[in-house]
Amino acid sequence: MPDQSTPAARIARLRRRIEDANYRYYVLDDPDIPDAEYDRLLRELQALEAAHPELVTPDSPSQRVGTRPAGGFAEVRHALPMLSLGNGFEHHEGHDDAMRYPEVADFVRRVEQTLGHGDTVYSVEPKFDGLAISLRYEHGLLVQGATRGDGSVGEDVTANLRTLRAIPLRLRGDAPDVLEVRGEVIMPRAGFDAFNARALAAGEKLLANPRNGAAGSLRQLDPRITARRPLAFFAYGIGVIEPASLLPPTHSATLQWLRTLGFPVAPEIATAQGFAGLIAYYRRIGAARDRLPYGIDGVVYKLDRYVDQQALGYVARAPRWAIAHKFPAEEQMTVLEAIDVQIGRTGAATPVARLTPVQVAGVTVTNATLHNADQIERLDVRVGDTVIVRRA
Ligand code: IVH
Repeated sequence: MPDQSTPAARIARLRRRIEDANYRYYVLDDPDIPDAEYDRLLRELQALEAAHPELVTPDSPSQRVGTRPAGGFAEVRHALPMLSLGNGFEHHEGHDDAMRYPEVADFVRRVEQTLGHGDTVYSVEPKFDGLAISLRYEHGLLVQGATRGDGSVGEDVTANLRTLRAIPLRLRGDAPDVLEVRGEVIMPRAGFDAFNARALAAGEKLLANPRNGAAGSLRQLDPRITARRPLAFFAYGIGVIEPASLLPPTHSATLQWLRTLGFPVAPEIATAQGFAGLIAYYRRIGAARDRLPYGIDGVVYKLDRYVDQQALGYVARAPRWAIAHKFPAEEQMTVLEAIDVQIGRTGAATPVARLTPVQVAGVTVTNATLHNADQIERLDVRVGDTVIVRRA
């Protein structure tokens, strides 16, 4: 209901209400208004700002979709490099967990040797299958968003990142002078499926997987296209922070703090102790993997206390205080060797793809049902094509 106050006061109230709705939806996962009401508030804000352009500010929720960058994306040199992670895998021939997961066992052994004790706490996290980005806030305002690139130099995709409602344009509460938040832009499964269903019906190009969906959406030159893509964001760390005294003593406390500042932090992130605790988490998340609303390709273990991280240090571009523990791949590329037609008991004809055998999620795949001739035509599948096989 429009209030009786000045346009400036009404605009301020609308912005706060819309920001709160975003926070409740993306961070607390506890929405408090229906989509239609949200859209109505946003339209009212847009109308008021159109009537009073002098009141428009860059952090207004109406300003998420801006103008396209002239030319391509500018380069951004990261003030602190965006690191990569060493990997651990599953070895099926192992008799016990230390043999099954040797890279993880080595990682824990090194941590415990360096620190001189065994009761070590780790932050344990999903390994999101999306695109790493860095968000820079100055005095609470989002000033730049960049892709990871090679870790030292990324691309300035600020205009595109501003369209994601999961990314705050302005921090909540007391903001540091400078804060860089790192995390992953993802395309949740439901949004990916809906996008592809629509694209298939419209005869448009399909997204190969949610990760390509996220990456391709961020590399659009027109932010209006990015704005229409179903993207989400999870924070998992920080870069520069000034003053440094604001940094909590542990990684897990930092993630809690980021939540209060307005960033979505995945509810699956937890803490665990020692090798057995890490493996229990790996199994728990592995079992829940298909039920998660977003794709992951493993879990990440990070030593929780920053003083302990410093003691472990770095090797090349990767920290010695963290490791990714990958799940067996659910997706592989292979070659379509032939398409046969199988006649079922009911007489129905089903096309079957004969594939160059490939290991997917621990099983060898040689055939795949192609749902019908219609679909083959729409996808333009041909013998000799390289195809992606996904376990489902
Ligand atoms: S931390 C200090 N945490 O993995 C290590 N990375 O190989 C910096 N990723 O490019 C990364 N989920 O895209 C971290 N919970 C998570 C992650 C994660 C996915 C990706 C990220 C990065 C790559 C590192």
